[in-house]
Amino acid sequence: MKVSIILGTRPEIIKMSPVIRQLQSRSLDFYIIHTGQHYSYNMDKIFFDQLHLPNPHYNLDVGSGTHGRQTGLMLEKIEDIFIKNTPDIILVQGDTNTVLAAALVASKMGIKIGHIEAGLRSFDRSMPEETNRVITDHLSDYLFAPTEIAKNNLLHEGIDDRSIFVCGNTVVDAVMQNLDISKKDTQILEKYGISKNNYFLITAHRQENVDQKSKLIGIIQGLKMLYEEYGIPILFPAHPRTQKNLHQFGIPIPDGTIMFDPPGYLEFLQLEENAKLILTDSGGVQEESCILGVPTVTLRENTERPETIHIGANMIVGTDPNKIIQGVRTMILQQIKWINPFGDGNAGKRIVDTIIEGKS
Ligand code: UD1
Ligand code: UDP
Repeated sequence: MKVSIILGTRPEIIKMSPVIRQLQSRSLDFYIIHTGQHYSYNMDKIFFDQLHLPNPHYNLDVGSGTHGRQTGLMLEKIEDIFIKNTPDIILVQGDTNTVLAAALVASKMGIKIGHIEAGLRSFDRSMPEETNRVITDHLSDYLFAPTEIAKNNLLHEGIDDRSIFVCGNTVVDAVMQNLDISKKDTQILEKYGISKNNYFLITAHRQENVDQKSKLIGIIQGLKMLYEEYGIPILFPAHPRTQKNLHQFGIPIPDGTIMFDPPGYLEFLQLEENAKLILTDSGGVQEESCILGVPTVTLRENTERPETIHIGANMIVGTDPNKIIQGVRTMILQQIKWINPFGDGNAGKRIVDTIIEGKS
């Protein structure tokens, strides 16, 4: 059996790493295609280095662009590779344009598709990710749902029960495999002169947030009010999309907020683990904060990770500064007694077991 892994962005590299390790440790025949959707060193190569991943066998250098152009280029280039080097099955993770393109090509060529993190739904079709998830799920042969909630979303859409495998989220595997290393090998708290449980951490990069001036201003105003109320630093490793927009819209960074280029995964895990509270619109960060026992407010109107809300780890607050502050006031008092709902850290193993057994 020949497996093709297709990835292209920061979260895909991180969440696919446990699966790649499993394929390597069992000496299975696989190759990696990197679409080049992310390409800056700190959005891409740093994760291959820190996670000791093999270099991709193909790099398509697609880069940034409009959704249609970016996806179209990927379709063309992935098809060329699949014609020359035809896999029996592809594995994709998540909801990016990379995932959609790879699944579409594989489907048209009759190649089996395994979708890792299947069944997540925000029920908000204005998000590009929601379109990508729904289409990819409906093209897939193996749907690796992280939780029962995700499985039920798929069943409600008429997907065959026999194709769905609840296996946990590989994000747990990645955290468990790297947390101790991150504690030993990084000094990011010292670098920014901050101490454990005495700073906030924020990330924001969603298109529907940071491409809209009013929403981005709302988030930044929330940070200003947060510093006025709590007087502790706010660490803001800013995605390139966000940095570009802050600059273009001429939005200044308020006192108390320390904005910097995104660090690697090991440093970021330490920033998450030691934060008093996390503010984010990221999917992966909502999961990781929940796993690490750090209360979170989500700067969106919905989430495809409702498990985090149900257990009291997370609260949806949107981008209105007053709601952000109210959410922080509530969540900061939250008792951290929840149990991680995303699995036991063996999702990668289950995924590879399943494709080897060819259950679908
Ligand atoms: C993409 C995914 C999103 C995911 C995110 C992870 C889609 C539709 N979106 O969003 O689901 O949460 O990745 O981070 O697939 N840029 C750089 N260097 C890079 C990459 C991007 O400077 O290495 C800048 C470019 O200006 C680019 C912008 O960031 O235009 C957005 O990049 P893009 O990959 O289109 O979308 P993301 O916001 O990263
Ligand atoms: N991450 C990182 N450095 C950062 C911000 C995030 O390594 O500065 C990691 C984080 O630990 C998580 C993943 O990137 O595993 C989340 O990616 P992102 O927020 O870009 O995308 P999403 O999960 O929303 O698709």
